[in-house]
Amino acid sequence: MSTVTVARSLPRIAEAVGLAVRTAGAVPRQLGLTRAALEANGFTGKLGETLVVPSREGTTLVAVGVGDDPSANQLRDAAAAFARAAGNREHLATNLLEAASGSVGDAAAAVVEGVVLASYRYVGQKTDTSAASKLDTLTLVAPAASASAAERGVTRAMATTRAAQLARDLANSPPSHLNARGIADLAVELAAEHGLGCEVFGKDQLAVLGCGGILGVNAGSVEPPRMVKLTYRPRNPKAHLALVGKGVMYDSGGISLKPSNPMHAVMKMDMSGAAAVLAAMTALKALRCRNQVTAWLMCTDNMPSGSALKLGDVLTMRNGKTVEIHNTDAEGRLILADGLSLAVEEEPDAIVDIATLTGAALSALGKEYAAVLGTSDAVIEQVEAAAGAVDEPVWELPLSKDRYRKLLDSVVADMRNVGGPYAGAITAAIFLSEFSGEVPWAHIDMAGAMDVDADKGWKSKGATGYGARLLIELAQGFTPPT
Ligand code: BES
Ligand code: MN
Ligand code: ZN
Repeated sequence: MSTVTVARSLPRIAEAVGLAVRTAGAVPRQLGLTRAALEANGFTGKLGETLVVPSREGTTLVAVGVGDDPSANQLRDAAAAFARAAGNREHLATNLLEAASGSVGDAAAAVVEGVVLASYRYVGQKTDTSAASKLDTLTLVAPAASASAAERGVTRAMATTRAAQLARDLANSPPSHLNARGIADLAVELAAEHGLGCEVFGKDQLAVLGCGGILGVNAGSVEPPRMVKLTYRPRNPKAHLALVGKGVMYDSGGISLKPSNPMHAVMKMDMSGAAAVLAAMTALKALRCRNQVTAWLMCTDNMPSGSALKLGDVLTMRNGKTVEIHNTDAEGRLILADGLSLAVEEEPDAIVDIATLTGAALSALGKEYAAVLGTSDAVIEQVEAAAGAVDEPVWELPLSKDRYRKLLDSVVADMRNVGGPYAGAITAAIFLSEFSGEVPWAHIDMAGAMDVDADKGWKSKGATGYGARLLIELAQGFTPPT
C-alpha cells in the first residue's frame, strides 16, 4: 500500500507532478507555460485531458484538465488521468485539490481514489512482475487552512481504496486459486484484523439450516460450499443494515453449460458481489461506521458432474419455499435465496444484496451501470445516493411483480428459477423478492459493472471492485426507512 500525505508545497521526491488546469483562468505557474502554449499542443483543460511536460530538473510535469468547477467525481477522473499519464512512477504529487470548490475532504478522498485505483495492476501469477504498480508515495498539495480537512479525506480514501483493491484482487483471482474454502479462510483472517465477528458454515451446517439453494448449486462440485456470516457492531448502533453477496467462485452454468466464449472465462468473477460485501465490511471499523451491519457471503462454484443439480429438480430453500429448476445457470438467485432468508430472520432495518446476477442487466444497461430493484423506494434511494457519491452508478428497473411474477409460475413447486426470454434482470429480482420477506430490500445486479476490458479512468483492466465503495458509503449513511 502506498503512503499518502498532505503537504503545503510540492515535495522534492516527486517524480511526476499533476498540475490542475481549468478550461479558463490562470495556468499554474510551475508549468512554465502559457495557456496559448498549452492550446498549441492540443491541451485545453477539458476534464480528463493531460499533457506531459518535461522539466529542467527532470521531474515530469503533467498538465491535468479539470474542466470548469469540477465535482469530487470529476476530480477522481482527473486524478486517474494524471496517474495514467505519469506512467508507472514511485513518487507522485498533485495540486488537484486546489481545483475543488466543494468539500475539501470529499475532494481529497476522490483524488486519492483516482490515483490509487488507476495505478492498480493485477499481476497475479505473472513471473515477470515489472508490470506491477510501483506507486509508493502520493502527496496532495493543499493550503494550510484546508490541511486537516484534506487529511480526513485521505484517511477515508485509504480505507475505501484498500477495500476496492481487495475486491478487485479477489475477483481477478483464478477460480482454482480462490475457491469457497479459500475466501472463507480469508474472511476469518480479515475479520480478526478489522474488528468483525465471523462465522463460517460448511456443508453439514448448511444442511442443518435447510439451505437447499446453496447446497443444490454446490451439488455438482468437488469443492464444498461456504457461507460466511460477518458482523460489525459499534456501540449503540443507530440502525441495522444486512448485506448479502453472491459468491459463485466459478460459474460454468452447471448442467446448463455455458458456451466456451470469452464470457465464460470471466465467470471466475461471479463472486464479485461477495467480494464487494467482504471488502466493504473490512472498512467499517476504520471509518467508525455508526450502524450495525451483518453480512452473508454465499460461496460455492457451479459445476456440472454426475452429482449436479438437474433440470426438473425441486429445491427447498431456507424459508421453506420450493423452487423447480429449469436452468442450472440461473444459480445466483438460488444461493441468494438462502442468504436473504437468513437475513430476514435477524430483523434488520433493511437488506441490500449485490450480485453478478444476469446477462440481461448487462444487455439493458451496459458496463457503466448496475441495475437496482427492490421493494423499498427509501432503500433504493439510499443505494442511488451512495452510488452517485462514489461514481459507481446504478439505474432502477421496475420490480413489476403484478405484471411479471406469473412468468415464474411452476406446476410442481412454488416457483421456477427462470422466467421467459425477456426482462431477465426483472424476473431474477422478482424471484429474490420471494425471500426478502417484509424487510425493506434492494437488489443490485452488477453483472455489467464487474469488469472492464481495458483501462478506463479509475477502473483498471479486469475486475473493477464495483460495489465495495458503494456499500461502504451506504453503510455509513444508512438510515432506517420510515
Ligand atoms: N453469472 C451469470 C450472469 C452474468 C453474465 C454475470 C454475464 C456477468 C456477466 C448468471 O449466473 C447467469 O448465468 N445468468 C443467466 C440467467 C439465465 C439462465 C436465466 C443469464 O444471464 O444468462
Ligand atoms: Mn449462471
Ligand atoms: Zn452466475
